Amino acid sequence: MARVKTFYTCQQCGFQSPKWLGKCPDCNQWNTLAEEQSQAQQNSRALPSPGKPQKISEITSSAEDRILCGLGELDRALGGGLVPGSLILIGGDPGIGKSTLLLQAVNQLGNIGTALYVTAEESTRQVKLRGERLGTNAKNLYLLAETSLEQIRKRVAELKPDFLVIDSIQTIFTNSIESAPGSVSQVRECAGQLMILAKGEGIPTFLVGHVTKDGSIAGPRVLEHLVDTVLYFEGDPSHPYRILRAVKNRFGSTNEIGVFEMQEAGLREVANPSELFLAERPEKTAGSVVVPALEGTRPILVELQALVSSSSFGTPQRTAIGIDHKRMALLIAILDKKIELQLAGQDIFVNVAGGVRLDEPAVDLATIAALASSHLNRAIEAQTVIFGEVGLTGEVRAVSQPELRVKEAARLGFNRCILPQGSLKNLKPPAGMKLVGIRHASELIDLIFN
Ligand code: TYD
Ligand code: MG
Repeated sequence: MARVKTFYTCQQCGFQSPKWLGKCPDCNQWNTLAEEQSQAQQNSRALPSPGKPQKISEITSSAEDRILCGLGELDRALGGGLVPGSLILIGGDPGIGKSTLLLQAVNQLGNIGTALYVTAEESTRQVKLRGERLGTNAKNLYLLAETSLEQIRKRVAELKPDFLVIDSIQTIFTNSIESAPGSVSQVRECAGQLMILAKGEGIPTFLVGHVTKDGSIAGPRVLEHLVDTVLYFEGDPSHPYRILRAVKNRFGSTNEIGVFEMQEAGLREVANPSELFLAERPEKTAGSVVVPALEGTRPILVELQALVSSSSFGTPQRTAIGIDHKRMALLIAILDKKIELQLAGQDIFVNVAGGVRLDEPAVDLATIAALASSHLNRAIEAQTVIFGEVGLTGEVRAVSQPELRVKEAARLGFNRCILPQGSLKNLKPPAGMKLVGIRHASELIDLIFN
């Protein structure tokens, strides 16, 4: 009989130690080590291999084999559809809509082949109720309420599904190790066995993973290297918009995002996010500006708002929602020093409307414009969009893909774009669009107000 070994595993990062420690030396979290046991002899995790080495030129590529899920935004985030045998992890906060998204996806897939949705958190009846709201009617969609991995494998062997969903990886467990469900060892072992199943049988498998308080998928490092694709489903729970973002993708770009809107009857795909994000924009109001941001290869127009008001306390407040806090502090300093707008002693708030997060430097110039507009209490011309990176001396630097941004702005009826002089090279303005290149952020003030 195999010897049983006891060890301690950090439930945050998967670090293992032969003795208990108060603080994990790997991720520095306190009190995260828990006792776990394993058979000294682990099941081998070898992938079924085709045998002898093959020439790369003789291996047939499977680019044409991608399966479209029927949800365009999901296919986009996956890099153009599902790859046979791939293992996909969908992470996100509880209640963000992961189960809803996957039920809608398998509803489409259940018409292409046999789909098995393993619900380890809810009963089949609960899923059915949800399915009724979503209009689920696929011919070959099977539900299974099961938490034991051995049972799931047995059912998969019987049913031979073409698509598999495990909701969620944290609630299933295997008998081959003794640790509690949800512990790092269990999550890793179950995911490992599911990987062999997915690759061996060629079944594309979705795993749902919950996020821990610090924003990482429980057992994140142990799962992320194992799976082929990691998609994050994120959004502000108080807004209906949800963004599906690829964090890792072995079969495509990680820059792609899918945009959804949560409605009464489930998630609706948003093919034109710009229109949605600009729908409630107040025109002719100080402190509001439209920026053509880029999410992956996709330009999205969003509204950026700033509010500058004199502070009643000694230390003024600085709050940034949707953009980086440090980046905002830097831009405020540039406004102070290089553009000579006195913002010291002012409370400053910056917000990106619609709960979107903008992490690229191309929004610098628009942030400066919004701050100046609010401070001077003058509205920015409504038909103008602004983008560009701003350096520490106030110089405006070129950014990537200016043509995509300009085109999207023109499509939505904007007629003027203020952008870095450096991005103007070889850029043909679309019909009806006037391009204004600038070299220094101080030129902005003369241009944006009418
Ligand atoms: P759910 O998919 O259960 O989240 P997760 O699996 O990520 O925990 O989504 C639950 C939320 O979605 C819940 O707060 C209600 C909302 N929702 C709708 O607004 N409309 C719908 O049709 C459905 C099914 C859910
Ligand atoms: Mg769920």
